[in-house]
Amino acid sequence: MSRPIQATIDLSALTQNLAMVRQYATKARIMAVIKADAYGHGLFPVVSALKDADGFALLELNAAIALRKAGYQQPILLLEGFFSIEELPEFQRYKLSAVIHHEEQVAMLSKSKHRLDIFLKINTGMNRLGLHPNQLARIIKYLIDNQCARSLTLMTHFASADIPAEKESVSRQFEIFRSITKDYHYPCSVANSAAIIRYPETQSDWIRPGIMLYGSSPFPDKTASNLQLKPVMTLSSKIIAIHDLQIGDKVGYHGLFEADRPMRIGIVACGYADGYPRHAPTNTPVLVNNQRSRLLGRVSMDMIAVDLTDIRDAGLSSAVILWGKGLPVDEVACHANTNSYELLCAVAPRVERQISH
Ligand SMILES: Cc1ncc(COP(=O)(O)O)c(C=O)c1O
Repeated sequence: MSRPIQATIDLSALTQNLAMVRQYATKARIMAVIKADAYGHGLFPVVSALKDADGFALLELNAAIALRKAGYQQPILLLEGFFSIEELPEFQRYKLSAVIHHEEQVAMLSKSKHRLDIFLKINTGMNRLGLHPNQLARIIKYLIDNQCARSLTLMTHFASADIPAEKESVSRQFEIFRSITKDYHYPCSVANSAAIIRYPETQSDWIRPGIMLYGSSPFPDKTASNLQLKPVMTLSSKIIAIHDLQIGDKVGYHGLFEADRPMRIGIVACGYADGYPRHAPTNTPVLVNNQRSRLLGRVSMDMIAVDLTDIRDAGLSSAVILWGKGLPVDEVACHANTNSYELLCAVAPRVERQISH
């Protein structure tokens, strides 16, 4: 038998989450965000389950071309656009849509004489990507005069739609976006998962859900099941060694955990080289034989220790769930002081993805 760790990808959960997105946003077209190998889930299986999405958004040109070659006809949007003029023939050939967020890109496009479907990104306050609002009118005019655009869509991105106390920052960004785009009749794209759910007034023509498709909550104050989202990835492994501890015995590197009673522990084939967060502390939840247990001591490269003291039926080869069905990834992320995005994207290539339908 090979090393028992695996990530099971539940495609029916993905399809159900897509249907849930449609319930949250009945009028908008859905640009499913599938960057970073579909948030670590595996591009092609994910796209097969999301084939009814109205478009796909990602950053990697090779992946976009592979999707087109595989026959997906929807708009495929490159969220950082193109980086050099040499890429433009590929954009044209494969009918890829490009975010334009910088004047340099406009110059490249007009020099190349290619015409693209363009999503013009406006910086409304996040100060990551986007044109300054003052540049918008001039750049739209330039793109039209120079026939660079087959179509134009106007977009922005919220910095804090996921944080309940940041309502004002969302309103401020949305107001800036509305005031500078209101005189145009181009379609707009604004909302990520958090905004789709919490600020439905921002949904406009194209929504861009990512994390909610994968069954994780965008919010700290709501669980995925509150939002009727189903976990797509279940990271699981098995117990590969068992030890009995006496009071005072220590566990793992630097002996960070010390037994204060006689204990039984299991060693699980899963470590930070598999993508499990190294900074997860003692007491981070795990499931053993579907019962809740906890991590003990330092996460090492290939293994963790878990508490089996109260799990009588656990033994060698018992099933362990690190996150997924029965244990929300959001809960593990919270213990590890990170978010679900990072955990899902970090699952290592050496962890086999098993597809379930
Ligand atoms: C521009 C843009 N739109 C949409 C998304 C999807 O966001 P989420 O996964 O929070 O729904 C992202 C993700 O980071 C993004 O960068």
